[in-house]
Amino acid sequence: MRHLPKPLSENETLEDFLARLGHPAESLGGHSQAIHAHFFAQTLKENPWIKNIAEVGFNAGHSAEMLLRAAGVDTQMVSFDIMQHAYSHLGKLYIDARFARQHTLIAGNSNESVPTYLAHHPRQFDLIFIDGGHGVKTAYHDILHFKQAAHDKTIVIIDNVAPHKPIGHKVYKAWRQALDEEHLIHLSHHETEDYADGWVLAQYTSHSKPSAGTTPDYAHIERKLAFTG
Ligand SMILES: C[S@@+](CC[C@H](N)C(=O)[O-])C[C@H]1O[C@@H](n2cnc3c(N)ncnc32)[C@H](O)[C@@H]1O
Repeated sequence: MRHLPKPLSENETLEDFLARLGHPAESLGGHSQAIHAHFFAQTLKENPWIKNIAEVGFNAGHSAEMLLRAAGVDTQMVSFDIMQHAYSHLGKLYIDARFARQHTLIAGNSNESVPTYLAHHPRQFDLIFIDGGHGVKTAYHDILHFKQAAHDKTIVIIDNVAPHKPIGHKVYKAWRQALDEEHLIHLSHHETEDYADGWVLAQYTSHSKPSAGTTPDYAHIERKLAFTG
C-alpha cells in the first residue's frame, strides 16, 4: 500500500512538492510558465468578477494554481483531464492542500466528460481555459462544449494557438474553425517574445451578442508558418 506524501510545509512550491515525490520539473509535460502566471494575474485583476473558472488540461496543476492564486479565496474552479500522468494525482493533492474546497478535478476524455459534467451540473463559468488535447477535433469540441456554460461576459483563453509549432497548429485550426463558424468573438492574440508559444482571448457569440469583436491579424499570427505541402 502506498503512503500519502508527507504534508506540505508552508512555503513548499508545487515544483518542490512534485520533485520531492520523484517528479522533477523536467519530467513534467508542457505546462504554464511565468509568462502565463503574469497574463492570468493581469486578466483577473482587470476582471475581478471572475469567480467561477473551468479548465481543460490540469496536467501537474500549474495553471490551476496560478488561476486560483490570482482569483482569490472566493473562487471555484473545475479542471478536466484525461489523467494519463501519475503526477497529476500528486498535483491535485497539492492544489487541495493549498486551496481547500475550491477545486474539483474531473477525470476522463474531455470531449465526453465536459458535456456529461455540464448535463449533471448545469452552471456558468466566468473564465474558461482550454489547454487539453491538441488535436483539431479535440480542441474544437472542447471550445464548443463550453459554449452552453458561458454567459455574455465569459472569457475564453485558448492556449497553444501557434500555427507554426507542432504543438499548436491543430489548436490553431480548431480556433479558426470556431471563429469562422461564428461560435467565438476574437478579443486578442498573445505570444511569447520568441514566438515559441501563443494564446488567444475570446468570448462566445450569443443571441444578445452575435458575431462582433475584431478580426484577428492572421497574417501576423501566421508569419512564421511554412507550408510543407
Ligand atoms: C499542456 S497540458 C496542460 C497544462 C496545464 N493547463 C498547465 O498549464 O499547467 C495538457 C493536459 O491535457 C490532458 N489531455 C490531453 N488530452 C486530453 C483529453 N482528450 N481530455 C482531457 N485531458 C486531456 C493531458 O493529460 C495533459 O495533462
